[in-house]
Amino acid sequence: MSLIGAMLLTQVGVPQVTVPFAPEQASTFAPHVDALYAYLLAITVFFSTLITLLLIFFAVKYRRRQPDEVPRPRHGSMLLEVTWTIIPLMIAMTIFVWGASTYFKAYRIPKQAMEVYVVGKQWMWKFQHQTGQREINELHVPVGARVKLTMTTEDVIHSLYVPAFRIKQDVVPGRYTQLWFEATKPGSYYLFCAEYCGTNHSGMGGHVIVMEPTAYQQWLAGGTGAESAASQGQKLFQERGCASCHQTEPGGQQGRGPTLYGLFGRQQAVTGDGTVTVDEAYIRESVLDPQAKVSLGFQPIMPTFRGQLNEEQILQLIAYVRSLGQPAGGESGGGAGAGGGGTTTGPTTGGVSPTTQRSNPLAPTSPRQGGASPQLPPRPGGGAAANANTRTP
Ligand code: CUA
Repeated sequence: MSLIGAMLLTQVGVPQVTVPFAPEQASTFAPHVDALYAYLLAITVFFSTLITLLLIFFAVKYRRRQPDEVPRPRHGSMLLEVTWTIIPLMIAMTIFVWGASTYFKAYRIPKQAMEVYVVGKQWMWKFQHQTGQREINELHVPVGARVKLTMTTEDVIHSLYVPAFRIKQDVVPGRYTQLWFEATKPGSYYLFCAEYCGTNHSGMGGHVIVMEPTAYQQWLAGGTGAESAASQGQKLFQERGCASCHQTEPGGQQGRGPTLYGLFGRQQAVTGDGTVTVDEAYIRESVLDPQAKVSLGFQPIMPTFRGQLNEEQILQLIAYVRSLGQPAGGESGGGAGAGGGGTTTGPTTGGVSPTTQRSNPLAPTSPRQGGASPQLPPRPGGGAAANANTRTP
């Protein structure tokens, strides 16, 4: 329909009609995904044409000419068998290698990235920036910065899908999944839920708004009322009495629970067997199911907080624990886990501190900027005015 429509429009002289075969390319992945797609399409078209033409040719050439004609029997041809095995194998391998490398690019989360927490629920997307801004169905990000999403859901499975970025990832109850992207063009891009999740599934969408760095700075500055995720987590930490067992200062006396200072990203020995990487998933598990993996040398006395904290609060606590003992410069990195492939929470590390994200979201993350980008002056204090961009659920 759209093709015919576009052709008709071209006929009557309306300029600049584009046929929407694919969404706009707006992330670093998009050209890779589209190139692979074009390759698959070319192979499919080539073989469909070849097979159809041969079919017609053979049907004519070897048609029955006499009513009583019986074909001569044929026996196997090794050459033919080998040829039609080897060639398809080679073609399939190119698809596999190319597809796998594209997949790993998209699903291996970089260590240095701007962190955003995402909570899906029927029927909205909630985003929380480390600098404290919260948004619903809208996500503001700077162009050219790597953005890492740590995602979960309050109810059923949803799936975050941004066609212009060529990324999609399910959010699953009870665990974290992660996704990352680097937007290449300022603009507003559709964001969908791509997993049927109930009555208003089709309305569960919004926009990712990609801004020039200066515009993004202004947007952040507009959100002055926002308290950083880590500091919201710190409040919860005090309110819920976590501080009575867990030290948060360097070199402090061990409490009844492990000291949390500098813990994030480390390897932690646990009772029974082996070690775990202290990442988002492990902290979440320790809050909700404290007896699952108890740190070596501690008694399993921590009560569960299941049912007492919602997903956003757990993410704020994680932001707080991560902020403990991380250097303020943003070059935190650290942690033993490498790569972190796969779609669920791999061993993730450091990330960029809220302060750094606020003052200069580009410097530590963008490969194009490297270390040489001009350092923007940090914005003076958070102020108190309400943020027009921030809606609290
Ligand atoms: Cu959420 Cu479909």
